Amino acid sequence: MLLLALLACTGSKDDDDPVVVAFPDDFVFGAAGAAHQIEGGNTNNIWSQFETLPQFEGRTRAPSGEAVRGWERYEEDSQLAADLHLDVYRLSIEWSRVEPERNVWDDAAWDHYRAVLESVTARGMRPMVTLHHFTEPIWTNDLRDPDCAEGPSDQNLCGWTNPEMAFEFAEFAHAAGSRLGDLVDEWSTFNEPNTYLIPGYVSGTFAPGKVNLTADAIVANVLPVMKGMLDGHAAAAAELRLTDGIDADGDGAAVELSLTNAMSWIEPLDPANPDDVAAAERIQALFGYAWPDAVVDGLFDHDLDGVPTEAHPEWAGTIDRLGYQYYFRFAVKAAPGFPPLDALPCDPVLLGALGLTPESVGCPEPDPANLTQMGYEHYPEGLRLLGEALVDRYPGLPLRITENGIATTSGRRRAESIVRHLEAVAPLVDGGAPIDGYIHWSLTDNFEWAEGFEPKFGLYAVDLSTYDRTPTEGATVYAEIASAGGLRRSHLDTYGGDGPLSPEE
Ligand code: BGC
Repeated sequence: MLLLALLACTGSKDDDDPVVVAFPDDFVFGAAGAAHQIEGGNTNNIWSQFETLPQFEGRTRAPSGEAVRGWERYEEDSQLAADLHLDVYRLSIEWSRVEPERNVWDDAAWDHYRAVLESVTARGMRPMVTLHHFTEPIWTNDLRDPDCAEGPSDQNLCGWTNPEMAFEFAEFAHAAGSRLGDLVDEWSTFNEPNTYLIPGYVSGTFAPGKVNLTADAIVANVLPVMKGMLDGHAAAAAELRLTDGIDADGDGAAVELSLTNAMSWIEPLDPANPDDVAAAERIQALFGYAWPDAVVDGLFDHDLDGVPTEAHPEWAGTIDRLGYQYYFRFAVKAAPGFPPLDALPCDPVLLGALGLTPESVGCPEPDPANLTQMGYEHYPEGLRLLGEALVDRYPGLPLRITENGIATTSGRRRAESIVRHLEAVAPLVDGGAPIDGYIHWSLTDNFEWAEGFEPKFGLYAVDLSTYDRTPTEGATVYAEIASAGGLRRSHLDTYGGDGPLSPEE
């Protein structure tokens, strides 16, 4: 293990500005995007309905519209990723484009994705492909009939509680594996199914916009959706393994399957108070661990008591690697009677969604210098702490950081964020934790779901009047890190440490 050692190097750059935090040779660096957020012109999925139907007015700031015209500009975007010396470009296939109606496949759309993937592999990068990144075709879950008054039909399967959904998702996976398996090894069934589920079915702030705020309502209405999705995940995983027999990158594995899970670093507000500790654990069990518990150990928390006891061997062991995606931390305090888990999350954004402020409920305000454009707290140490927690909970399970990033208009802030997160997680990787890579969210600015276009996550800034892409300081620094395989002394000196972030520009 040579990480964190000063490397004896020969080149002049290395002499003048040595790599002082090195990652292993096979550690991958990447950047990500997702179809609905970058392509533009997606009008046949439930997010486009959520953005435009009158009953959801006010829940999104802007429709995705042209997004950042990624559909046409994929060749340029692949080149932008290659310019950063990346190993992996993570993207998603928009299900509603390749299967616009039930059992109707659009060959031209599949050809398009083949061309996208070829533009990635031709530049020496590996694609990591997600099948479900928050969006679903309208025919699977039509929001014009949200209560499914008409009953399920070919035009509206009425969502994941219909067992046919799992089969349909598996058919999509079958088509993807057989059509694109020669280009792709790294597949992911769901991106952040916990983010899809909690804003989508608990707070109603994401499509499909359902609201279930009490524990009873979650058990009755949300957990069955989750079970349907887990059945879909397991069936899709099996189809990918069956159909993709081609080892596209020659590393000995034709399929490396992951689920990418959103995780926050969640702390008890008062670590000395056992009630706060238990409350934080309940929230993390529901948000952070529910999905990995199911797909790693086949365990399900059917009564939301924080302990998964319902056995589902059909979901166990269905992933090869867990992706974890980290953006922020928040504290939790015990709040008896506060639905759904007798716990209050102190995050200003989560509280805001409930019409509360940290002050009104006795939570501390995070240091404003460390708030991002999204309003939550930038806390790089959380990336390492979560990695440690995952290693403890799922010993031996391969991990990858499949998203991490910051919403900011400042290139310098983005560079600081990248350097500080990598600096924080490096000792864990050096200590032998099975974390094989870091993927930055995102390659370019894009459509940030309910928040519209204001939060800027891109390594490349996008001018929304011309769609021109311009590298930020974050891109310059990330390219240097990816090409060196680690952080140079100048990166730590200029961007590292644990002081407040530079101000927003
Ligand atoms: C999602 C992305 C999103 C990003 C930044 C993740 O929750 O996978 O789609 O844009 O975080 O909020």
